[in-house]
Amino acid sequence: MTPRPPDGAPLSVRDVTKTFQAANGATVVALDGVSLEVAAGEMIALVGPSGCGKSTLLRLFAGLDAPTAGEILAGSEPIRGPNAERGLMFQDHSLFPWLTVRKNIQAGLVARGVLREHRHEVDEFMALAGLAEFADAYPHQLSGGMAQRAALARALVNHPRVLLLDEPLGALDQFTRMRMQDELLKLWVARGTTMVLVTHDVDEAIYMCDRIAIMTPRPGRVDRVIGVTLDRPRHRNDRAFLDLRGELLETLQLAGG
Ligand SMILES: Nc1ncnc2c1ncn2[C@@H]1O[C@H](COP(=O)(O)OP(=O)(O)OP(=O)(O)O)[C@@H](O)[C@H]1O
Ligand SMILES: [Mg+2]
Repeated sequence: MTPRPPDGAPLSVRDVTKTFQAANGATVVALDGVSLEVAAGEMIALVGPSGCGKSTLLRLFAGLDAPTAGEILAGSEPIRGPNAERGLMFQDHSLFPWLTVRKNIQAGLVARGVLREHRHEVDEFMALAGLAEFADAYPHQLSGGMAQRAALARALVNHPRVLLLDEPLGALDQFTRMRMQDELLKLWVARGTTMVLVTHDVDEAIYMCDRIAIMTPRPGRVDRVIGVTLDRPRHRNDRAFLDLRGELLETLQLAGG
């Protein structure tokens, strides 16, 4: 299972700092001199304790926010704003509450005026996400897991070259989660999309990713990047898998402390 030549774009983070003004006026250093290279078609996990800047970094990749200092690029172009080539799935599903599931999923296609050519894919992705029967439901009528799957379908249907996923599978039960992991992997193999996956699930990071960036909080830094060299498809009970899991959990415990 080796991805074909990637559609994905490489990403570069060069000495990026991001500070925020907290409510009490104090300065929060969300990211402190972070550098990271993500190869075209690579799947990389961002793992680390709450508040270490994972979502902040993802928003910078998405172009929803700008770094305070440093540079962030997609290919050779500095990221200056959102772009349909970079799909983002937020930590909370952020579906449009006034649109049905179908209309949410096709919103990006409508915005770009390409719905007619891609209409069949809306149905495909809805089926993939197990939502065919809920096409006409509104977000408030969905369970948390269903809403998350709808948001994932909405991101995928645009065929982004970079997919930025902030705990995309966090609200799913274990079985659905494992199935969606395999579906994401299939898409990744088929398209070579560059994927940045924020996850709290160490098993998910090992199962899915080429590398795992471990972040530490206050200030937010990339502490180390661990390569996952296990052959694909991976098996969650393999000795090597479990060894790496143990090693990662230990590292994370240190990062959290
Ligand atoms: N818009 C903002 N204004 C002020 N502070 C912010 C803002 N966004 C993020 N922060 C702060 O930056 C730090 C990093 O936040 P971020 O959301 O990136 O963390 P995270 O790693 O995604 O955490 P979690 O795992 O809980 O989602 C936190 O201290 C947070 O309070
Ligand atoms: Mg977050």
